[in-house]
Amino acid sequence: MSRAITLHEVSKYYPKQPTPAVDRFSLEIAPGEFLVLLGPSGCGKSTVLRMIAGLEDITTGELLLDGEYGNDLAPGDRKMAMVFQNFALYPSMTSRENIGFPLRFEMPGTEPGPRVDETARILGIEEILDRYPGQLSGGERQRVAMGRAISRHPSVFLMDEPLSNLDAKLRAHLRAEIARLTRGMGVTTVYVTHDQAEAMSLGDRVAVMRSGVLQQIGTPRDVYHLPENVFVAAFVGTPRINLLQATVIAPLSGGMWIDFGRQRLGLPEPLGYDHQMLRIQQGRTIIVGLRSEAVRIARASQAHPGEVAISGIVEHVEYLGHESLVHLNTGSRPAIVPELEAPRPAPAKPGPRRNGTGSGGLGKLAQKAARRLQATVTDREGGSHGAHSAHGGPPKPPQTPSAVMDRPAAAPETDTGDLVVRTGPDIRVRRGDHVPLLVDLAHLYVFDSNGHRICPLPREQPHLE
Ligand SMILES: Nc1ncnc2c1ncn2[C@@H]1O[C@H](COP(=O)(O)OP(=O)(O)O)[C@@H](O)[C@H]1O
Ligand SMILES: [Mg+2]
Repeated sequence: MSRAITLHEVSKYYPKQPTPAVDRFSLEIAPGEFLVLLGPSGCGKSTVLRMIAGLEDITTGELLLDGEYGNDLAPGDRKMAMVFQNFALYPSMTSRENIGFPLRFEMPGTEPGPRVDETARILGIEEILDRYPGQLSGGERQRVAMGRAISRHPSVFLMDEPLSNLDAKLRAHLRAEIARLTRGMGVTTVYVTHDQAEAMSLGDRVAVMRSGVLQQIGTPRDVYHLPENVFVAAFVGTPRINLLQATVIAPLSGGMWIDFGRQRLGLPEPLGYDHQMLRIQQGRTIIVGLRSEAVRIARASQAHPGEVAISGIVEHVEYLGHESLVHLNTGSRPAIVPELEAPRPAPAKPGPRRNGTGSGGLGKLAQKAARRLQATVTDREGGSHGAHSAHGGPPKPPQTPSAVMDRPAAAPETDTGDLVVRTGPDIRVRRGDHVPLLVDLAHLYVFDSNGHRICPLPREQPHLE
């Protein structure tokens, strides 16, 4: 028994807060679907989940459960089970008692034993049933917490960062376990995380949020390959997509170039439909997105069709064994996505950066450039715009704006280059090397100055079946 959940234009205003924590959020979750809410800390994920659970009032908008109005249903009548980050077990009860406890209320008069045993079997925790939480490891405690949710046979699982307090290895292990469990049970699951890798590996679909506003909803493949805007592009994928400021040069006499400042990328003729769309951007600042796998270190003579040559100077190499991440300087100006830049501490100079992100390294020049772009955006467009909507209709004014530049960014000062390229283990380069690069135009993303994707356009995906 699993249920459909619909949120229709749901907003949440907390008392005394000028801006909504959740702003006109609409989403349809199918019965049995595993939906992930993904976004940075404070973007409203938990608030959405708590409104679904009935733990938080909905200020405006509607919640439908199996098509029926559910805003006013008491939490206990929703048949939902919640798993939190901090396990929330009763310290004075054994695992068995913790798992069985909610059943006393839900099935009064019934002996919880068989349900508890069944749950313990599913989770592989039979041996720890008689231990107290204080005698369990973090992973075991989280299994017991999950057991408490499972034993109730809920029609919906709501999970709020359930793995965040665990170490990386355990997280990966439990992630696989959660996927297996929920799919096996076919229960509708809404899973909150700020970890994009977790979101991508677990979700049937991923809903990416920013500042209370839904940015995009799609399969992991969709949000990775066709991000609606710069924010989604930058939030999903490691190392982070390279985002570079550029301008389009498209003279009437023909030809089209993307100018990065010191280098230009010539788009081969005849232009594809995607690239023809760029004509209207002539002379404007755009943002180019290149994932680390869209560029390879190779000579122009080795180019495949659709690859264009540029070059860069190696700033730093992150050796990861099966691959290396090469940080290059191409003389371009990185574009910044404020929410993503702020929390990340600047690495010690000139040391390596562990998280291998491409667009974070910003010198004074780039900060200045970003401020200039900010000015450009505001001047030209007369203010910021609403998030791009894939579902028709113009964006509405008070909704939080688009993906970039609506706030001045305090960028960390580093000199780790402007482009991160992924290479195989057999390519050896050193700091200071001047290397030839080939850019795969099929994987070239272009966003307008508001951060909305211009290309590539969606196309029919070939299915291998
Ligand atoms: N009880 C509350 N009162 C006032 N503001 C709140 C409350 N709970 C959350 N917020 C604010 O609402 C926003 C969204 O919070 P939350 O949903 O917890 O974000 P997330 O789970 O994505 O980190 C944040 O700005 C947070 O500070
Ligand atoms: Mg939260």
